[in-house]
Amino acid sequence: MKIHSIALISSNASYTMCPQDTKPEVAFIGRSNVGKSSLINALLQRKQLARVSKMPGKTALIHHFLVNNQLYFVDLPGYGWAQVGHATKVRWGKMLRDYLLHRPNMSTAFLLMDAKIAPQAIDLECISWLGQHHIPFAIIFTKADKKHKMVAHKHYMALTRTLQQEWATMPPIFMVSTHNKLGMENVLGYIQAVTQAKDE
Ligand code: GTP
Ligand code: MG
Repeated sequence: MKIHSIALISSNASYTMCPQDTKPEVAFIGRSNVGKSSLINALLQRKQLARVSKMPGKTALIHHFLVNNQLYFVDLPGYGWAQVGHATKVRWGKMLRDYLLHRPNMSTAFLLMDAKIAPQAIDLECISWLGQHHIPFAIIFTKADKKHKMVAHKHYMALTRTLQQEWATMPPIFMVSTHNKLGMENVLGYIQAVTQAKDE
């Protein structure tokens, strides 16, 4: 999939304000600091389109990026960051769930997990929740830099074993690193397939 144009269409605190559009969209969700915004920038080949930070909690709104005038990439706040105040945590959780439940044109929600750490209970809960609500999803292991290759593989295998116990069909699982551009073509190819975006 070639990127020709990108526009930030809206940044909202509620699904009710998100674009009412029939174009397909893909969302990037996961724990705070897992690398959602960085991955959007890397996929779209822009350095500072989505705001990135070393500190968790950077993305606080639902950001809709229109790509090639054909589909949306959606950056969202993370979940599970202990340091954020309780009220904010609850608000972001509700914002995320409400958004996911009210986007009929959702092609795939990409659930990002840090390849350097073992699958976390909160991520497994999120996977179950997506399944229960019939939201199409795929998993992306992030930060699979060259130096973390072994541990990333171990966590990939652990997740696969866990999911096989629960799921008749496995979701697609990708491995990416924005540092060495690992996996970008695979994820973009998948997005093109699920959104049926044309390579014009
Ligand atoms: P929130 O918006 O706070 O939920 O975070 P986020 O999931 O959007 O993460 P963000 O993209 O802001 O990145 C968090 C940190 O991870 C930054 O310091 C990035 O530089 C770093 N990071 C992102 N991708 C990679 C990667 O592939 N490898 C490594 N080592 N670090 C990465
Ligand atoms: Mg972010």
